[in-house]
Amino acid sequence: VATAQIYPSMLAADFGRIADAARAVAGHADWLHVDVMDYHFVPNLAFSPDTVDALRRVTDTPLDCHLMIDDPDRWAPGFAERGAANVTIHAEAVDDIARTTDAIRAAGARTGLAVKPATPVEHYLDDLHRFDLLLLMTIEPGFGGQKFMDEVLPKIAAARRLIDDRGLDLWLQIDGGVNRETIERSAEAGVDVFVAGTAVFGLEDPAAAVESLRALALA
Ligand code: DX5
Ligand code: ZN
Repeated sequence: VATAQIYPSMLAADFGRIADAARAVAGHADWLHVDVMDYHFVPNLAFSPDTVDALRRVTDTPLDCHLMIDDPDRWAPGFAERGAANVTIHAEAVDDIARTTDAIRAAGARTGLAVKPATPVEHYLDDLHRFDLLLLMTIEPGFGGQKFMDEVLPKIAAARRLIDDRGLDLWLQIDGGVNRETIERSAEAGVDVFVAGTAVFGLEDPAAAVESLRALALA
C-alpha cells in the first residue's frame, strides 16, 4: 500500500491522564480515534462530546469519533461542532443515511460508515458516496483488547476492490485487534487507516509503537 495512517484509540489510554496520552503520540499519530458508546448499541459506556472538546484543546491532531450509539441523529452533529474532524456512524443504527450525513457535513466534519463484522457492505452501495471513510470492524464493537477476527479479511479485500473499481473517494479503516502481528495481513488486504488501542497505549513508548505499526503496514 502507498499510505498507512495510524489512529491510536483513546479508549486504551489512561483516563486520568488523557491529555498526556494525546501529547505522547502527537506528531506520530495521523489522527486520534475517540470511541463513543451509549450502553445500548454496545454494552459499555465511553466518551462524550465534552471529551472531544477537551481533547481538541490539548492537541492539534485531528479527532476521529466512532459513534457506537443507537441514536446518531441526536449526537452526531454535536461531535462535529465540538471539533471532531470525522464522525463515523454505524450502519446498524442509522435510519436515514442521507439525513445524518448531511447534518454531520453541515456541522463541518467528514463522515464515516462503520459496519460490524457480520454486516455486509453490499447493503449500503448506493450510499457510499455520502461517506469519506468506511470502517470495517475487526472485532465485535464494545471493548478494547479483543482478538482480531481473521474472517473479516476477505470482506476487507472485497471492499478494497469495490472502492478501486468504482473510483470511490473513501478511506478504508479497520478497528479492533490491530497489532504488530495482524497489521501486515490487513495492509495486504487493502486497509489504509488502522485504529490501534492496546497496541499503542498498552506499550511503554506509544509514539514508537505508532511508528513501528506504520512501518509494518508499509513493508
Ligand atoms: C472497540 C473500539 C476500538 C478499541 C480497539 O469497540 O471501537 O476502537 O479501542 O481496541 P484494540 O485496538 O485494543 O482492539
Ligand atoms: Zn473504535
